[in-house]
Amino acid sequence: VANLFFEDSTRTRLSFQVAEKKLGAKLVNFQAHDSSMNKGESVHDTIKTIESLGTDVAIIRHADDNLLESLRETSSMSLINAGAGKHEHPTQALLDLLTMKQEFGKIEGLTVTICGDIKYSRVASSNRIALEKLGAKVLLSGPRTLLPEDKEMTPFDEAITQSDVVMMLRIQTERHVGLEVSKEDYLPHYGLTIEREKLMKKGAIIMHPAPVNRGVEIDDSLVEHERSRIFKQMQNGVFTRMAILEWICS
Ligand code: CP
Repeated sequence: VANLFFEDSTRTRLSFQVAEKKLGAKLVNFQAHDSSMNKGESVHDTIKTIESLGTDVAIIRHADDNLLESLRETSSMSLINAGAGKHEHPTQALLDLLTMKQEFGKIEGLTVTICGDIKYSRVASSNRIALEKLGAKVLLSGPRTLLPEDKEMTPFDEAITQSDVVMMLRIQTERHVGLEVSKEDYLPHYGLTIEREKLMKKGAIIMHPAPVNRGVEIDDSLVEHERSRIFKQMQNGVFTRMAILEWICS
């Protein structure tokens, strides 16, 4: 199994590696920053090289929204999306669904608020698709400039009081150059503050795909709050990715 990370990662890369080791796979680890891409090798040739080494499965993270789709026609490897640009992050959505299912027993009927940089978030995109397919109500909140133009926005204070799950997102600064969002202003206006946590329903949980910018989109003290399932999500990432690998290899 080859782990091909053309963008930075902690959770996805390491939890795939742990999952592969638990399943007894042999690992090939690739990170773009110390590869021959620095000598001009293309993504296409890098992936063909990995395939030539005799790899069965490739787990790929790349900034290009459509790279995996373009490879599917020609690659003999099974391809797993570990984060595609601002398009999709399906294994993250699956581990998020598992976390919600563990908490509430089912997804149908839940109200989930996703708050923050929806426009550039592949996590928001994959979660919205999966949650709506499974019968959850999804509310979107955050700065209007960070929401897709065609999507309805619910004021955060209004969304919080209705939600079983409040999923916070980091501002994806690496995907939009020149965005005027002051970190100091963000938390009081759009972030999950201590005051807003008090508006949450009894039994409602806080989620975040991480990495977290403590004190920007969420108050520092809420990251490890009793409502928070942020580290549970990471643990579920290993089990979810084990299941995905087993399914794809069988
Ligand atoms: N949630 C997530 O994808 O984290 P990493 O970028 O650290 O993999």
